[in-house]
Amino acid sequence: YVIGVDLGTSAVKILLVNQNGEVCQEVSKSYPLIIEKSGYSEQNPEEWVAKTTEGLAELVQAFQGDVKDIEGISFSGQMHGLVLLDEANQVLRNAILWNDTRTTKQCQEIYEVVGQEKLLEITKNPALEGFTLPKILWVKENEPETFKSASVFMLPKDYLRYRITGNIHMEYSDAAGTLMLNVSKREWSPEILDLFGIAPELCPPLVESHASVGTVTAEFAQATGLSEATQVFAGGADNACGAIGSGILSEGKTLCSIGTSGVVLSYEERNDLDFEGKVHYFNHGEENTYYTMGVTLAAGYSLSWFKDTFAKEEAFDQFLAGVGEVPAGSDGLLFTPYIVGERTPHADSNIRGSFIGIDAGHERKHFARAVLEGITFSLNESIEIFRNSGKTIDSIISIGGGAKNETWLQMQADIFNAKIEKLTSEQGPGMGAAMLAAYGCGWFTSLKECADAFIQTSKTYYPIKENVETYNKLFTIYQQVYTQTKALN
Ligand code: XUL
Repeated sequence: YVIGVDLGTSAVKILLVNQNGEVCQEVSKSYPLIIEKSGYSEQNPEEWVAKTTEGLAELVQAFQGDVKDIEGISFSGQMHGLVLLDEANQVLRNAILWNDTRTTKQCQEIYEVVGQEKLLEITKNPALEGFTLPKILWVKENEPETFKSASVFMLPKDYLRYRITGNIHMEYSDAAGTLMLNVSKREWSPEILDLFGIAPELCPPLVESHASVGTVTAEFAQATGLSEATQVFAGGADNACGAIGSGILSEGKTLCSIGTSGVVLSYEERNDLDFEGKVHYFNHGEENTYYTMGVTLAAGYSLSWFKDTFAKEEAFDQFLAGVGEVPAGSDGLLFTPYIVGERTPHADSNIRGSFIGIDAGHERKHFARAVLEGITFSLNESIEIFRNSGKTIDSIISIGGGAKNETWLQMQADIFNAKIEKLTSEQGPGMGAAMLAAYGCGWFTSLKECADAFIQTSKTYYPIKENVETYNKLFTIYQQVYTQTKALN
């Protein structure tokens, strides 16, 4: 058996997986966000450790077999969050999370000091509030004593793993989201560190995601019931692990994951493409490979907003029952899902959404369908950026809320103009983490081999030519709405 721990933003989810890739047990423990001010989002790293310990202890207690058969454990983690430790490896302050937006000023400073072109050349990504470097600079400027006392910085799951093994490491897929890694050279960037007065010692040694980084300490074994022989593997960023857990492990493989926000993510062997920072370009959890990723901020969130505002009492299935009766294109009704701003491709937190083309004959089901189409158009903008770089995207794995509704799955095939595949069982990033442990333990000779054994697709949706044409025309209009409505804000 192996264990995959997914250290998320609202909860830690733990999976026990057997050699056939089946989930034998599952535990989830939630923890709160600490929101001191608007725009702030923090968590106490001690909570991650306490809840993971509690969850693992429950899982081990319920486990029927010999605990020594749990050979390995690995991690998936919420990205970008800043954990600072002092010389005695004690946590100096609450972790500042990926969804904390206090660092707009620091992002501007990064552009001024490094220059946009150089920043893209080194880190492959733009300076966004969520990333780690702006958070370090915020602490340096606003809490100078804390910055002076810091001896090492860590990302959330790396801190958790340190508490389990006593060893400090970071791996490439998460380091890629710090804005301090030279993504193609796979090393901490001496230029960036130097320009911001960050001592190289602040950055932990880098390892591969499947690298063994030790075993469980005696203390942690005692607290959880795990064997001290359990091997610990580095793990990966949640998006990298989500991709691994869905089998996104060869050129052309693309994932569409619709939750509160929506992500399209594409496997990439090359490290020298230029997306001008419009999509994220990160190291994968597989050796020497990459992925590109676009984000729609309000994907599922647009749908739940619409339902909660106009049909609060209805169950989701009932609410969506009518959308299949409305033709592709919602009889001319068009929605843009910018209700909390947009990340890809506009990186604009001020833009807001719209419904256009309202006809007196439209019913609520038209609006519901237009919302689904608008979310999918927004994700298609990221797919278009991938395609414009020369990538072939003809087959997409769909997971999350978007894979729960047949009409939406067919809509994805028609709007993305690609074959859409649904998985038999969806475990998300926790499965990716378990697969890293399985590969690390030597069960397989590669992650791809592990994916072939663990991941199956259950159903395929093919684009319908007529709908593709309708959506192509509408997409051109959709893309103009952003520019036309920008001045409203
Ligand atoms: C990625 C990002 C989020 C977090 C969520 O850039 O900010 O997907 O990783 O955990």
